[in-house]
Amino acid sequence: MIPSSVIEDIRYRNDIEDVVSSYVPLKRAGSNLKGLCPFHSERTPSFVVYRDTQSYYCFGCGAGGDVVNFIMRQENLDYVSAVEFLARRAGIDLPDFSDENREREGPSRTRILQMNREAAKYFRKMLFDDNAGAAGRDYFVNKRGLSSLVIKRFGLGYSPMSWNGLRNYLSSLGFTYEEMKTGFLCGQNERGYFDYFRGRVMFPIIDLSGNIIAFGGRVLDNSKPKYINTSDTPAFKKSKNLFALNYAKDSGEDTIIICEGYMDVIALHSAGFTNSVATLGTAITAEHARILKRYASKAVLSYDSDAAGSKATERAIGFLSDVGIDAKILVMDGAKDPDEYIKKFGREAFGRLIDGSRSRFDYLIEKTLKKYDVGNADDKIKAAGEICREIASVYSKVEREIYVKKAASALEVDPKSIFLDVEAAIRKAERAKKKERSGELIRITSGISDRVNPDFVKRPKTARLEEDLLGMLMIHPEYISVKLDGGPAVSESDFFTDLGKRLFSHIKAQTESGTFSTGSLSEKFTFDEVSRAMRMQNNRRELTNDETAYLTYLEEIRKENAKHDAKATLEDIISHKRAGN
Ligand code: CTP
Ligand code: MN
Repeated sequence: MIPSSVIEDIRYRNDIEDVVSSYVPLKRAGSNLKGLCPFHSERTPSFVVYRDTQSYYCFGCGAGGDVVNFIMRQENLDYVSAVEFLARRAGIDLPDFSDENREREGPSRTRILQMNREAAKYFRKMLFDDNAGAAGRDYFVNKRGLSSLVIKRFGLGYSPMSWNGLRNYLSSLGFTYEEMKTGFLCGQNERGYFDYFRGRVMFPIIDLSGNIIAFGGRVLDNSKPKYINTSDTPAFKKSKNLFALNYAKDSGEDTIIICEGYMDVIALHSAGFTNSVATLGTAITAEHARILKRYASKAVLSYDSDAAGSKATERAIGFLSDVGIDAKILVMDGAKDPDEYIKKFGREAFGRLIDGSRSRFDYLIEKTLKKYDVGNADDKIKAAGEICREIASVYSKVEREIYVKKAASALEVDPKSIFLDVEAAIRKAERAKKKERSGELIRITSGISDRVNPDFVKRPKTARLEEDLLGMLMIHPEYISVKLDGGPAVSESDFFTDLGKRLFSHIKAQTESGTFSTGSLSEKFTFDEVSRAMRMQNNRRELTNDETAYLTYLEEIRKENAKHDAKATLEDIISHKRAGN
């Protein structure tokens, strides 16, 4: 655990306004600051930074927290790494508690990383072994045309056809079977532990600090499954990592090429496109997009030229533009993926494809025009409708204007009609959004769908009081010891929701051992729970939060709980009587 005094120091020296405004342009709004939320896409700013409480809250998506939490989300870091990040930013020297802290979170992340390093060595040794590695070398060198330089650069390897080669090797180095299983190198069945990767060429996945966090293994023939990949382990999250980003980040380019496969990336790097990465057998996630944003402001999507690839492309574009990456789409004819394309047509040809990659909008028009026969009036109307809705979703007015012209000429209609249709589509989308937002609010306040505080629905009235009380306690933690006339001070038993109880215990523990700050929440609670806590605090803003108000709430809660208990007792007695009869 990082001592709370250290955390407080870090928070103090990283003013939330400074930190946030290095990512999000903020404008003054009263005593607070406002901007476009970096965590969801929006046109009108609903992201507020409060200087007095050194916190942020988004009224659009509900994300909220302190500066550490902001960095966790924005930089995709765990709590300890976010604290380290901010310490570095403020020039504070931190003792290294990271490992001891991570150790407690899961079964030995450090051990798994050490073990992976050894496993990678083993796979590499096997690939270059005269006998054991012949098949692997034949595959990489002859079938896929890789040079030994590239094989070494990517640390490629081979897992021989053996049920326990790796297992025995790691065991001789002192790793336990349990660790191998946790690290996804071995499986376990009735007969014991066995190597997962057998007879496969191996691709190590390396994170930005150079740790080997996972492996992908491909078969040498057409058998299934084509790839086996490490699933999530204490050292690895698929949705947070990209293949070859460790190299691509140093390419010196502001554009990143995103493709589907390991082999695509390797072929691209070999051909000199060292700014390419791939996701790890999953579609791109919002987290991937946020990570990429740190290294590039532009992206070229170079997915396979099949239906799956085009679907993945559209999804990716959404996530990338949400974080402000200008993404273009590379359209490939005559080959199924970049690897094949480069082999067939050469690197210069691929370079031309990059130069000719389309903006999302041009790609969309092209696709829509292909789908419909614009010579036919009905089809033309449908195509225009689709395109107008797309233009309507563009934030910038200037950009919309350009698209209106493009669409009009592609569809051969008057730009004015397109313009009017777009305006109508914008109004319609805004109405729908408003409706959705108020619906969401009603659902949460009425507790119909409460993911974060599921007990809320059981007794919404009391739960709302509870959240108000917690909100006040977060603003005035000193109230925790204030006694209600003729009764004890607030205690855990005053809360009935699980989240309420946990938040209270945390506030209490923190207050007793020093001072409570909302910043400490990120260490113990999930993003959603932290956001919820921030909402509780924000709901109390501009309301009276003096001691009298606080005690009124506490009294009210106790009355409600007493009523509830009495009712429960009564029901109990009645059912006992019935049973007795
Ligand atoms: N993938 C996977 N599991 C599979 C198939 C694919 O995890 N059964 C992932 C891998 O990360 C792979 C990517 O999806 O690299 C793209 O798949 P595909 O296009 O089928 O593979 P390629 O890498 O292009 O393989 P190759 O060119 O060797 O056929
Ligand atoms: Mn391929």
